[in-house]
Amino acid sequence: MRIDVLTLFPDMLRGFLDNSILKRARNSGVIEVNLHNFRDYSSDRHHSVDDVPFGGGPGMVLAPDPVFKAVRALREELDVESPLIFLTPKGERMTQSVCEELSGLPAFTLLCGRYEGLDQRVIDNLVDRELSIGDYVLSGGEPAAAVVIDSVARLIPGALGDEMSVKEESFSWGLLEYPQYTRPAEYRGWKVPEVLLSGHHEAVRLWRRERALELTRDRRPDLLSGYGALEVEHD
Ligand code: 6GU
Repeated sequence: MRIDVLTLFPDMLRGFLDNSILKRARNSGVIEVNLHNFRDYSSDRHHSVDDVPFGGGPGMVLAPDPVFKAVRALREELDVESPLIFLTPKGERMTQSVCEELSGLPAFTLLCGRYEGLDQRVIDNLVDRELSIGDYVLSGGEPAAAVVIDSVARLIPGALGDEMSVKEESFSWGLLEYPQYTRPAEYRGWKVPEVLLSGHHEAVRLWRRERALELTRDRRPDLLSGYGALEVEHD
């Protein structure tokens, strides 16, 4: 998969991409991430990318021209379709199913906003989709781009060492994940639940599902409506 990112702050993403799972996924060729600074496409002497809003008001707005030119240059370079995704708190809320959908694409492009926003004509004429990572406001789209890249890349086969860990975790079941324990079996007098030491695989499986259901009921009952919880409780 190829991911392109259009940003004014590529350095904010570099360190993130150069560590852990994303580093490995990039080194093994599972994903390719290219960072582009759309300031490079600004045609004026001061390389400016923003301007005051028509109609007045505070702050600055990203001008259409540098973004348009950066997108056009990228499209010339790409030999696959790469939908342009604008990261904005006004966008559709990112969920695990959006991550799964994106992980099936050959490519996509993330456009990181800054300042008071992006000229609406770019959104209306170039952007294919708008995504938000949650109901709070970031200073710019870069942390959101990091979130999208991480959550999508780890779903691509070969990106994680152990393929099972994707299938068992929170949200891919539609439930919050059951608690995990490792050695020692007793630490400072705190014991690991007996069933996990029993070697009874079916008992362990049932215990984990019970804990996952209980945790989800307590903390995120909204997730249960999509899960078919009644069916599960009776089997
Ligand atoms: Cl994608 N961008 C910004 N600036 N703030 C956000 C966001 C995105 N998602 C949630 N808050």
